[in-house]
Amino acid sequence: PKVCLAYSGGLDTSVILKWLIEQGYDVVAFMADVGQNEDFGAAEKKALAIGAVKFVVEDLKREFVEELCFRAIQCNAIFEDQYLLGTSLARPVIARAQMRVAQQNECIAVSHGCTGKGNDQVRFELAFYAIQPTIKVIAPWRLPEFFERFAGRNDLLDYSAKVGIPVTSTKAKPWSMDENLAHCSYEAGILEDPNITPPADMWKLTDSPLDAPNTPEEFTLSFEKGIPSKLVTSSGQTVTGSLDIFTTLNAVGRKHGIGRVDIVENRFIGIKSRGCYDSPAMTILRAAHVDLEGLVLDREVRSLRDQFVTFTWSKLLYNGLYFSPEREFIEKSVVASQDTVNGTVRLCAYKGAVSVLGRFSETEKLYSAEESSMDTLTDFSPVDTTGFIGISKIRLAKYGQAKADAGES
Ligand code: ARG
Ligand code: SIN
Repeated sequence: PKVCLAYSGGLDTSVILKWLIEQGYDVVAFMADVGQNEDFGAAEKKALAIGAVKFVVEDLKREFVEELCFRAIQCNAIFEDQYLLGTSLARPVIARAQMRVAQQNECIAVSHGCTGKGNDQVRFELAFYAIQPTIKVIAPWRLPEFFERFAGRNDLLDYSAKVGIPVTSTKAKPWSMDENLAHCSYEAGILEDPNITPPADMWKLTDSPLDAPNTPEEFTLSFEKGIPSKLVTSSGQTVTGSLDIFTTLNAVGRKHGIGRVDIVENRFIGIKSRGCYDSPAMTILRAAHVDLEGLVLDREVRSLRDQFVTFTWSKLLYNGLYFSPEREFIEKSVVASQDTVNGTVRLCAYKGAVSVLGRFSETEKLYSAEESSMDTLTDFSPVDTTGFIGISKIRLAKYGQAKADAGES
């Protein structure tokens, strides 16, 4: 029988690859290119040397940015006030591609190297089952015959030496990373103490704000229906393709140290976990999008969206429920909320922060400088506002009277 393994080229999934072969499987090693800095050629050589019957790498960068990252921007997605969901957003496209490869290669099972304590196992497996309910899932880190045999890193290294798995000489970092176009995440190892400050050289996608240029960098970002459509850089260059916009913003954010967060978050399975993330492009895009909505979005649409849609969509993605009826349902309201979100935001990157310099929209109909002006009264009747306040106060007057009667102030 054949199994399709989500392979990373690292120690864990290399051992899993060999172990699956020992269990009698033919292994198709699958790698997703979601923009991580990776030597796919070296990974292919390694997988085939270990004994994979086939190696497949798929370029998922465009679908990742357009279907997931830009949707997240449209709804200002954020988890627990800080995490921009970089890993959560990539899992659906990776799982979908892995299932595609599994089906094309007549695999009866899929496998992954996620631990039994994390979010990723849930995200991958709920996606697998939603896409193909009959699929068999092999999660070695949850199988006693595997985790009892490979209790620590030394067991993995001993086994690798014994069966001839080439171990890359670079010393493993004392934390776990997950990189893609949206972010790099850093967890576990020395970061498990939430009071240990991450070492300065940990961050892979951003330079330190302390070393950022002394000159601010100005650029403009345009949106169509809430989707980033055009970037004009500080040198006057116009960038339009989705991937080009995204990677250019990553470069700007890197240089100015934008988008680092360090949090303790609540995993779906109920464990608290410390995570660090750098998300340069996502941080800039979200700030610009939130700003533009101030100019063009109806007040009550915004209020409902903020109270329910942003929170729910973010939580669904975090908890691995992308392939679900509730995600499809709520996403229709995300899209519907964005009809008027057209316009341009002028921005400035400087010393770890992105700030807004101004914004305009050719199509917006809600904002009127004359209407909000403190200097004119055209088409506005101040006398009406007396009535507005008079009606609004009815309830509050009763509340105040009750307090006064009770002797409270
Ligand atoms: N805590 C983050 C999340 O749940 C990052 C997970 C990183 N995953 C990994 N395999 N290193 O989305
Ligand atoms: C893992 O546990 O495999 C990585 C972290 C996570 O999924 O939350």
